[in-house]
Amino acid sequence: MEPTSAQPPSVEAFAGYVLHAMRTVYEELGPAASGYMNFYEVRILENHRPFSGYDRWVADYVAKTWPNRRILDVGSGIGTLEMLIARHGLGVGGIEMDPGRSKSARRLREELAKTWPEIAKNWQVIEGLFPDAIEGTSFQGKDTVVIFTNVGGTWEDALFERILGALPKFQHAMLDLYRFGGQRNEIAQRNELLNRIASGARNVQHVQPKGWTNYDFVQFDF
Ligand SMILES: C[S@@+](CC[C@H](N)C(=O)[O-])C[C@H]1O[C@@H](n2cnc3c(N)ncnc32)[C@H](O)[C@@H]1O
Repeated sequence: MEPTSAQPPSVEAFAGYVLHAMRTVYEELGPAASGYMNFYEVRILENHRPFSGYDRWVADYVAKTWPNRRILDVGSGIGTLEMLIARHGLGVGGIEMDPGRSKSARRLREELAKTWPEIAKNWQVIEGLFPDAIEGTSFQGKDTVVIFTNVGGTWEDALFERILGALPKFQHAMLDLYRFGGQRNEIAQRNELLNRIASGARNVQHVQPKGWTNYDFVQFDF
């Protein structure tokens, strides 16, 4: 495969390369230190797919909707979504509080840079807790779009409130109501979250593809 800097790779060729890189990093660091357990082990050892379905959809959606904005992905894990967004040519930061996953993300970025340095350059790995760790970075304010996919761990109340309070500092936010800081399987739980964020927004829309169940991606414009 001969990469060129002018032409991004097809998503299939890219997925093959990333899967190989994910396995290389996993073998190098091990299951625990890499932070792969168990979330990413399923992908590299069972599904043989580096990206989730929502990774692929979200990357295409943000590239189409905000081609000139910087993207900040909160709870980015090892950076699978970042790689896809960077492939579209957008600048993207992935913020991740888990040191093992952040380490893997940095190693994956190095692997990417060996073949596609111009894609790797678009991706910044930010280790730390959102919102604190973006202070003083370029991923602040109205030029940045903030997105959340699966951040299903449980946030304590104070952190949850701080994260909600940070959203209107960005002009646009997109998140999955099911997995924003805790699992919400009940529609009443999702509506409660939706209404809280919507009260400070000028526009709200459900944006996910038709037919998807157990996800509810919503875009908020502030
Ligand atoms: C279940 S993983 C999913 C990773 C990726 N979003 C995906 O869907 O493939 C969620 C990640 O979010 C991270 N996370 C949760 N809250 C965070 C916060 N406030 N700041 C930074 N990372 C956070 C966790 O450490 C975890 O690695």
